[in-house]
Amino acid sequence: MCGIIGYIGKQRVAPIILEGLKRLEYRGYDSAGIAVINKNKVSVLKRKGRIANLENLLKKRQVSGELGIGHTRWATHGAPSTKNAHPHCDCSGRIAVVHNGIIENYQELKRELEKDDYRFKSQTDSEVIPNLISKFYKGNLEKALREAMKKLKGSYALGIVSADEPEKILAVRNDSPLIIGLGKGENFIASDVPAILKHTKKVIYLQNRQLAVIEKDNVDISDLEGNKVSPKIDSVSYSIEAAQKGGFRDFMLKEIYEQPAVVSKILSQWVSPEGNIDFRDIEQIIIVACGTAFHAGLVGKYVLESLVRIPVWVDLASEFRYRKPIIKKNTLIIAISQSGETADTLAAVREAKKSKAKLISICNVLGSSLTRESDVNLDTYAGPEVSVASTKAYTAQLMTLYLLALYLAKLKQNLNKDELKKAISSLQKVAAAQKKILDKNKDIKRIARKHLHFGAFLYLGRGVNFPNALEGALKLKELSYIPAEGYAAGEMKHGPIALIDEYRAIVCIANDSPVYDKMLSNIQEGLARKGKIIAIATQGNEQIKSYVKEVIFIPKIEPLFSPLLTVIPLQLLAYYVACLKGYDVDKPRNLAKSVTVE
Ligand code: G6P
Repeated sequence: MCGIIGYIGKQRVAPIILEGLKRLEYRGYDSAGIAVINKNKVSVLKRKGRIANLENLLKKRQVSGELGIGHTRWATHGAPSTKNAHPHCDCSGRIAVVHNGIIENYQELKRELEKDDYRFKSQTDSEVIPNLISKFYKGNLEKALREAMKKLKGSYALGIVSADEPEKILAVRNDSPLIIGLGKGENFIASDVPAILKHTKKVIYLQNRQLAVIEKDNVDISDLEGNKVSPKIDSVSYSIEAAQKGGFRDFMLKEIYEQPAVVSKILSQWVSPEGNIDFRDIEQIIIVACGTAFHAGLVGKYVLESLVRIPVWVDLASEFRYRKPIIKKNTLIIAISQSGETADTLAAVREAKKSKAKLISICNVLGSSLTRESDVNLDTYAGPEVSVASTKAYTAQLMTLYLLALYLAKLKQNLNKDELKKAISSLQKVAAAQKKILDKNKDIKRIARKHLHFGAFLYLGRGVNFPNALEGALKLKELSYIPAEGYAAGEMKHGPIALIDEYRAIVCIANDSPVYDKMLSNIQEGLARKGKIIAIATQGNEQIKSYVKEVIFIPKIEPLFSPLLTVIPLQLLAYYVACLKGYDVDKPRNLAKSVTVE
């Protein structure tokens, strides 16, 4: 949610900031801006809309300088507009700030500052920050920032530059992510690794409530009391190519096609979880997550309960944190998150930790806040996921949950050696089966074209595939803005059946499974009311073809593992509908990939 980048070194800063912003655009794309320090002056350029608008402005108005900060915004306070775009300056125009997060007490601070004759140009919460720093500034920017931080409430990652101290960038993080990239004679700040990967693989993940003073040859990090901290320097394991489109039309399609490789990698890298958790003692599991990761958690409930035979609850992180959850001594919390920075998931985890619960995270970003706060982290090995709509991270989360469930089932002696071997052998066939479905992309595109103009979609599934009905509907609505609902097929008669007429498309997940006959009845009920059915069924099912015109076949698979396959046509269907409607699939309106605010 909002992307920050900063550079100090020997090169012209504007192209570096612009390039970094393009890589961060998935974090927000309402407006973008840049502040450059040159000849003891701050020059700020900003534009409403995509980074391309800022790029055009920079072509017309060249800015030179070797130190600067940039920002791409996802609006929280104040409409998306050039005025509300970052960087924001103090009244004197000497201090510029980029901010990711929310300042919760900004109205109170604004009132106080206005009494002292500070004037504001925007409707944002962020503009109080440079003015507050300016109020405390008496010749030492770092000191002024520390004073200002005593007043700020909320979450923030900040990049700060000042015309009066033109050899440094200050950076601070409080509940919003920020990294420092280390180069030779140049250094960077950024919200995320891909923004700086072209320049360096050496990064410091700034910890919560740490402040960094970044010069071109030096980085000093301290805690809020001013005590020096020696940071851990990490080396990024993936390359710039992994964060590029690699010949695909967009990131989403590339990421959909990466899924077979990702699930294979997880299988090959799997090692039993280590850490200070005794899994033998676990009596119940609570899974917390948001968005697509929440749907993975729902699949996890079916899988864990079926294999491990202990109760599992799945909670939206945003609900869990506020509902006084009952966490017992032997409760295991599983937090699932692609980014590891989702504000609600982190808050839920912190809430759970107050009750001394053990925490295992399933996360795609090593070094993220979530992985650092967990007792054990299971890496999902999906590589950078850039498209806002999550695809490969989802199947990676599923595969990891399957392996965790099998591990726990073995520990609890619920599975014998042969059963375990059979399960692993089924999982080993998933990648090839996914490839077969990806090869049907032309069929799925044709079905997408045919259903493009339907006003609403219903997605139905049962059992372990019910969460995929939710996920399919989410993918369609977030990408193509068509109202779509996911339902447990058995619930259809309790309400959603009223929606069905010849204008509804109904996507039914009807693969071979113990609930197949029930799904078939639901399909009949839809047909009887003239609904247009698209079915996902198992290869070799001739029967379904006599009822349903549009069937997408998937290879045969053990029903418990089938969500790893049934989700692929759902992703492709949503993708093609959005593409054919002419929408930007990688950056759907109003969304951001990393939701670091509540
Ligand atoms: C946003 C993204 C979703 C993602 C959700 C949770 O809404 O657009 O794709 O599922 O956040 O993100 P996380 O990083 O915690 O998995």
